[in-house]
Parts: sequence; C-alpha cells; structure tokens
Amino acid sequence: MSSVDVIILKDIEDVAMQGARMLRHQLRKKSDSVLGLATGSTPLALYEQLIQECANGRLSFRCASTFNLDEYLGLQPGDAQSYRSYMQRYLFDKVDIDIANTYLPGCGDGEDPKDVGPRYEALIRSKGGIDFQILGIGQNGHIGFNEPTSSLSSRTRIKTLTRETVAANRRFFTDATSQPQLAITMGIATILEAARVVLLATGEEKAEAIRASVEGPVSAMWPASVLQLHPQVTFLMDEAAASSLTLRDYYHWVAEQNRRLADVRTAPG
Ligand code: PGA
Repeated sequence: MSSVDVIILKDIEDVAMQGARMLRHQLRKKSDSVLGLATGSTPLALYEQLIQECANGRLSFRCASTFNLDEYLGLQPGDAQSYRSYMQRYLFDKVDIDIANTYLPGCGDGEDPKDVGPRYEALIRSKGGIDFQILGIGQNGHIGFNEPTSSLSSRTRIKTLTRETVAANRRFFTDATSQPQLAITMGIATILEAARVVLLATGEEKAEAIRASVEGPVSAMWPASVLQLHPQVTFLMDEAAASSLTLRDYYHWVAEQNRRLADVRTAPG
C-alpha cells in the first residue's frame, strides 16, 4: 500500500518518541533490518530515545546494520567533527549494535574519492537494500547533502556544499578553516530506493522547506519534494516545522481518523 503521511506533533520530544516507535516496530518485524541513518541536530532527540529503549530492553540493534547518508570529504573517521565520530558519540557507543555492521561513505587515505560512491552503493545492495531510512531536511530542502538542483536520479557521489549549508553547520566546527566544503552523500535515487522513509523536521526554520517539499511541485530546487514520489514516506514534524503548511488542519484530521480506525481494529469483539 502506498502512502505519503504527514504527522504533526507538539514538539521535538513527541517527534522523537514517534520516530522511536516506528523504528521499534521495524526492528521487531525484522531484527536484521538495514537502517539508513542521518546526522545533524534533528535526530539527536530520537537517538537519545533509542538509547533509553535499548538500555531498558525494549529495543535491540544486535542484528541490524546501518548506512549513514553522508560524510565530509577530507575528515578521517577519528576526527571529532566527522560523522563517524558523531554516530559513535550519539548512538553506536551507547546501544548494542555491532560496530562492524555500521557504514558511512568514507574515503580512506590514497583512495580515489570517485570510487567511494559505487563501492558504497554495492555494499548497500549486498545487504539487501535499506529497509528504513531516517532523514533530516536542510533549510534549503536538501536531504543527505543533495543540495538544490541535485539530479533527481543521482547516486552516491561527491557534492559541493552550498554556502548556506556550510554556514548552517559552522556551529559544529571550532576552527572554520577545518570545515570541509565537500561531502560524499547518498544520491536522491539511492534514498528513493529505501523501502520506507521517515523524514524528521523540527523548528520554525524548517517551515519553508517543509511547505515546499510536502505541498510544492516536485522540483530539484527542493530536493526533499521528490519524496512525494516515494511509495511509503512519512513526514514527521513538530508544530513549528508545520506552521507554513496550507493543509495543516487536514493532516491533523487525517491523523484523528487514523486513530479512530486503529481503535476500531483493536476493539474487543
Ligand atoms: P539539522 O540538519 O538537523 O542540523 O537541522 C538537517 C540537514 O541538514 O539535513
């Protein structure tokens, strides 16, 4: 069954809880799920929630494997600002995942960066493809580091970041000269191949990107808008990120009807 779901919740905590619920469901259904993971500020509350659930035995990553969306080009995995370090710090070191099953599209010393994309794609394919992909969204509508005007049929490759993205991520770097301007990112076509996609958005600064991506025309100018073509995608957001949506009331109404349907299905007798 195909669906584009728009779920609007009160705040970032509720978004994290709902994201964790969906991921828990996925891992219970298929313990060796292949998960696509994102970095940035938005998924941090979700990762906190997953760590707690793993600690109290509600969730296990023991059989799962993970593929991150992107990594800076030029930072080695041990660099404190690399996305590998981020993932270790905020998730992998605190859950029961086998680190050998966690992958980022890194470029090793002496390796031709052009080879990294095809190798990453082959690795994803060898694991059977991504079952459940978590995404954030940039203020400019990027997913992964697929900046506006990225090819909608792009695969994992090197991308030049926009000046806005570099500025937005400046907060993670103590020294501006060490901040990379290039990254390796899953492509838009790669992301679209995930069986299920959940995009998280919180905060008013994402409202315009959410409006364009959920309700605007599909356009390379707003890369996340291509998710409208995905068969099973959920845009999961807080009220602030939803504040510019034209059909906000309708999405709330649909959610209410879905809750009623679920009650009917689970009612005794
Ligand atoms: P953020 O980044 O979660 O730090 O806002 C999201 C993104 O750029 O994809």
